[in-house]
Amino acid sequence: MLITAVWLMLPAYIPNPIAAVLGGGKPIDGGKTMSDGRRILGDGKTYRGLLAGIFFGMLVGLLQMYYLSKRTTLFSVELPSFAVNASSVSAVIVIFTLAFGSLFGDMFMSFFKRRIGFKRGAPLPVIDQLDFVFGAWLLTYIVSPGWFTSNFTIPVIIVLLVLTPVLHLSTNIIGYFIGVKNEPW
Ligand code: CTP
Ligand code: MG
Repeated sequence: MLITAVWLMLPAYIPNPIAAVLGGGKPIDGGKTMSDGRRILGDGKTYRGLLAGIFFGMLVGLLQMYYLSKRTTLFSVELPSFAVNASSVSAVIVIFTLAFGSLFGDMFMSFFKRRIGFKRGAPLPVIDQLDFVFGAWLLTYIVSPGWFTSNFTIPVIIVLLVLTPVLHLSTNIIGYFIGVKNEPW
């Protein structure tokens, strides 16, 4: 279950740490503020982070597809495929919605954080740890509902809701100490 869950989420797990390492430069909101006087998204959401995150999330997904073309198990666990009805185009679409959805969820919550007056980097427990998971799930569900419901079963979802915050916090603490994150959350 753990292997299945992590395997399915890899294209969604990679983009955030990659954005933290490679992000920077022009903010997506162009530095603009809304009528509440606060930034639309803030300087923590950049084009470079978004594009690099999607690129590497998809790269990992494509490597997973390659692996599946050679063998279908990992530590004797049968691995799920990203393909809907064996079509590899559909697999690339699923990988894209997982990767983009995770960064979209993260951006959406930054938008929300700015509206409630939280500055860039201010912690919002639980939301910070799961926003990208819900973004990835929602977008993938909208685009590929059949694939989503047959792979993200209730047990897989429960495993991920427990595991993801632990993984997220530990990678952010590492990121903080190696200097790519400004805050350890
Ligand atoms: N990042 C980026 N572009 C993105 C997402 C993230 O460049 N689309 C980079 C930024 O350098 C950001 C870091 O990754 O500071 C960590 O992301 P996150 O914790 O989501 O951003 P915060 O700076 O905490 O901002 P926010 O309060 O909006 O979450
Ligand atoms: Mg943050």
